[in-house]
Amino acid sequence: MNPQNPPWWQGAVIYQIYPRSFADANGDGIGDLQGVRARLDYLAELGVDGLWLSPVFRSPMADAGYDISDYCDIDPLFGSLDEMQQLIDEAHARGLKVLLDFVPNHTSDQHPWFLESRASPDNPKRDWYIWRDEPNNWRAALGAGSAWSWDEPTQQYYLHLFLPQQPDLNWRNPAVVEAMHGVLRFWLDRGVDGFRIDVIHCTAKDETFADDPRCLAGLPLSDFNDQPYSHEILRGLRRVVDGYPGERVLVGEVNIRSTERVLSYYGAGDELHLAFNFTPLDAPWDPILFRTCIHDVQQWLPPAGAWPTWVLSNHDNPRQRSRYRGSLGAAHASAVLLLTLRGTPFIYQGEELGLLDAQIDAAARSDPGGRDGCRAPIPWQAAPPHGWEGAAPWLPFPPEADSRAAELQRTAADSTFALYRRLLAARKASAALRLGGFEELAAHPELMVYRRQCEGDVRLICINFVERAHACPHGLGWSVQVASDGAGEGQPFDGTLRPLQAVLLRPHED
Ligand code: NOJ
Repeated sequence: MNPQNPPWWQGAVIYQIYPRSFADANGDGIGDLQGVRARLDYLAELGVDGLWLSPVFRSPMADAGYDISDYCDIDPLFGSLDEMQQLIDEAHARGLKVLLDFVPNHTSDQHPWFLESRASPDNPKRDWYIWRDEPNNWRAALGAGSAWSWDEPTQQYYLHLFLPQQPDLNWRNPAVVEAMHGVLRFWLDRGVDGFRIDVIHCTAKDETFADDPRCLAGLPLSDFNDQPYSHEILRGLRRVVDGYPGERVLVGEVNIRSTERVLSYYGAGDELHLAFNFTPLDAPWDPILFRTCIHDVQQWLPPAGAWPTWVLSNHDNPRQRSRYRGSLGAAHASAVLLLTLRGTPFIYQGEELGLLDAQIDAAARSDPGGRDGCRAPIPWQAAPPHGWEGAAPWLPFPPEADSRAAELQRTAADSTFALYRRLLAARKASAALRLGGFEELAAHPELMVYRRQCEGDVRLICINFVERAHACPHGLGWSVQVASDGAGEGQPFDGTLRPLQAVLLRPHED
């Protein structure tokens, strides 16, 4: 990596699309690729640089597409290969990068590889998955109980760290490695700019299959599995991607709540380009917790040009505003934080509208892991059916679907959408915000104040985490470029942060 000429993904903001819930073009109540295509202008107007699509590949949908039965085809629910190509090309025409979701840890139990593997103990693909005569105590995620399921016809257990319909691949088998590298090449040849990699820390298993006391305590193995061989697997993926021109990127989900362990997945610049670090995703709106997360990243980020990521929500976790006890003020302040820290931010669809999680009755939930609330459909128009013509969407709308609809917010100057747009524009225009250094300044414990600087370009960010006003003398002499509540923009900063207010300041003469 050349520090004078940083790769595109260091300065970029990526928008996560959960396709089922984004936009429905064919009226079947499930979002699709044509729906995404129709909203590319919306994304360009918002000002993000790229999009990551959660899985749209052929799937029986036991885990909403994270159970893949053909990595090289699009599920008819979402569209076709041709439509995917159109989407990639049209995104590129607008300057938007496209990342796909690569799911290496497991396939669907309906994938032809697994059907062969389970056909008989001596099938050539038997060893593509992990079969044992005896189970150990490993537990699966998503409430699935034991990580081992018994296969009556062949009299062995197979391993699945998630649902029984998601058998784990055996990455110690070179044929599996080669087949999965082929999947990457298939999509790289079609012009995708990179991949988000699902649970990369799960791919390698302890070869001794020893019982783990943490599973005895009820934790799923995927919460902490972290074997050295995962790094070997990752280096292989990286070599494939590095063989292509155009700075293709690997963003890995390392779903372990230890920043130190997560950041080891950057390797020596030969593993992930970007690693999701989820500790801020759990944090309530609290300055001490955020400060700790930020310090941890500074402490553990390896040298060799490693670059952080910031994620405050996604399709597996409560939305920002829901986590912040419904506070729109906190959600707005968190947008300022997300888009001004040093690193690549990821925005989960609908955060730019300030959406809350939907309240969904147990009977109407479709996810075995109970993650439906944050997956509610995006309300595009104020009037029902909120832009979802035809069959009712697969999940109910989030609260306030009429007043939070995208159509209204695009034209309202004081909307959440307008705040995101102003922040993204400010970021695009400032090397300090995109690429600059980070320095925290001493401030009241209920505030965070930091400075971003890249050569002569400098910005100051002041965040008030609490519901009472605070003096913030650091900002005197600066101008308000963006305020989370819109107050005072374009004016000299008056030295006071209102309750839950976050401001992006620039020098007067800018
Ligand atoms: C992480 C994904 O984000 C989640 O949605 C999925 O259930 C698991 N990995 C298993 O693929």
